[in-house]
Amino acid sequence: MPLSIHAPRKNARSSFLAFALCLLLTAPLFAQSLTGRWAANGRTLDNGETELTILDLKQTGSTLTATLQSTGFSLDLKGTATGNPFALLGTRRREPPMLEGDLVDGQLQGKIFGRRPFTAHSATTADVLPTIAYIEPPALHNVPENSLAKTPPMGWNSWNLFKDKVTDKLVREIADVMVSSGLRDAGYIYVNIDDTWEGVRDKDGNLPPNSKFPDMKALADYVHSRGLKLGIYTSPGPRTCGGYPGTYGHEEQDAKMFAAWGIDYVKYDWCSAARIYKDSQLQAVYQKFGDALHSTGRPIVYSLCEYGRGQVEKWGPEVGGNLWRTTDDIRDEWSSMIGNVEEQVPTAPYAGPGRWNDPDMLEVGNGRMSDTEYRTHMSLWALVAAPLLAGNDIRDMSDATKAILLNKDVIAIDQDPLGKQASPVKNGELETWAKPLANGDVAVGIVNLGSSDATATVRAADLGLTGKVKHARDLWSHEAVKFKSGAYSAEVPSHGILMLRVSAH
Ligand code: GLA
Repeated sequence: MPLSIHAPRKNARSSFLAFALCLLLTAPLFAQSLTGRWAANGRTLDNGETELTILDLKQTGSTLTATLQSTGFSLDLKGTATGNPFALLGTRRREPPMLEGDLVDGQLQGKIFGRRPFTAHSATTADVLPTIAYIEPPALHNVPENSLAKTPPMGWNSWNLFKDKVTDKLVREIADVMVSSGLRDAGYIYVNIDDTWEGVRDKDGNLPPNSKFPDMKALADYVHSRGLKLGIYTSPGPRTCGGYPGTYGHEEQDAKMFAAWGIDYVKYDWCSAARIYKDSQLQAVYQKFGDALHSTGRPIVYSLCEYGRGQVEKWGPEVGGNLWRTTDDIRDEWSSMIGNVEEQVPTAPYAGPGRWNDPDMLEVGNGRMSDTEYRTHMSLWALVAAPLLAGNDIRDMSDATKAILLNKDVIAIDQDPLGKQASPVKNGELETWAKPLANGDVAVGIVNLGSSDATATVRAADLGLTGKVKHARDLWSHEAVKFKSGAYSAEVPSHGILMLRVSAH
């Protein structure tokens, strides 16, 4: 009996071992371990420097964990490998993969950040990121308020569409169109240059622009002469997210230089600061530059960009900040746009005049959402009192895009002086957002998250009004609508919005 049990088991084990051996011998034909230290170099920046990216990758079965570091950023990633093809995701955001590709002829080949080609070889001892001397951040104290951005900042930013294609010429043309299109007069005042303007720091530590921006002061003068303001971008780390020189160790010097150029707005993007500092040091690091901006004496809007880490909404004002990103980067896609605004919900109690939660810049008009979806995007940004920074090519706008960005009824909701951030009062496929306004009115939006048309009903009882509805206006048809028995209903297409301003007086 023991033999009869034992023998088949022994046979089963040896055939299993033979099978496993066979798999081991043939597996390399199909898949090789991706574990290793990989180096991608060669991308030449607009200031002539080259960027090095190091991927430390560990594979256990099909599970991957990785750290992706460049001069500009440090990201923890996780993912899977199916044979050799692999995909690595950010720890917060699942789509699209931060890095995806395949192992081909001993090299990793694929795409980084969903767009740039990525080729990496097995790293050698020459592939090392520069070491960075640690600078202790200052002890915490409150930076004085700058009294700016009493309503959410409005303007335009180069990043979403133009990325590294931003130039002096483009910025001047954008400034002209801000005026001729009516955007300036509708409140879009800031023209913001994002990453890739930077040159190379000189021996005195000054950071001039690269050749795309021959004279920043002259550009600021031009923008100012159009009744607009100029914004710029840098990082508390030694490198920006794009790999360009950041402000690390040059806080006062850069703040003074920005003030001398006539800069009115600075976006300060965490990026490579993550290679030096922990999240527990975010506040001190942002405070340091807040102090530097304050000591210039120039009114400069301070925009913190650290993707919502470390509950920034709780301390942003203490470092002199006027707005702070609450999410990862937006993409021109419905799921990204809706994901960002929903991720921001817990921050609502912290918004108010001079202190805004920022779900990232607008994608309206960039072409990968429908006009219906862009109307919802604009409406939600207005309801949550988000900064309205157009991110499209305003020199070439469709009539629909113009009508969306220039909808004065919707802009008025965003710019309402009470500065409340709407929260969803009802969830489900028809999600209702309500925002109390300074004159006692309430703005309400019902978003159809579903995939077919639906009837949305606004119920006065959900709006916290002080009395019965006296007037209501549809902010997209610009027509008065009538409440019956305390409710108003309308058909809303999939991904569309019904947006009303409701008044009880
Ligand atoms: C980060 C920011 C973006 C943009 C880029 C520029 O990703 O979140 O908004 O500024 O850096 O490199």
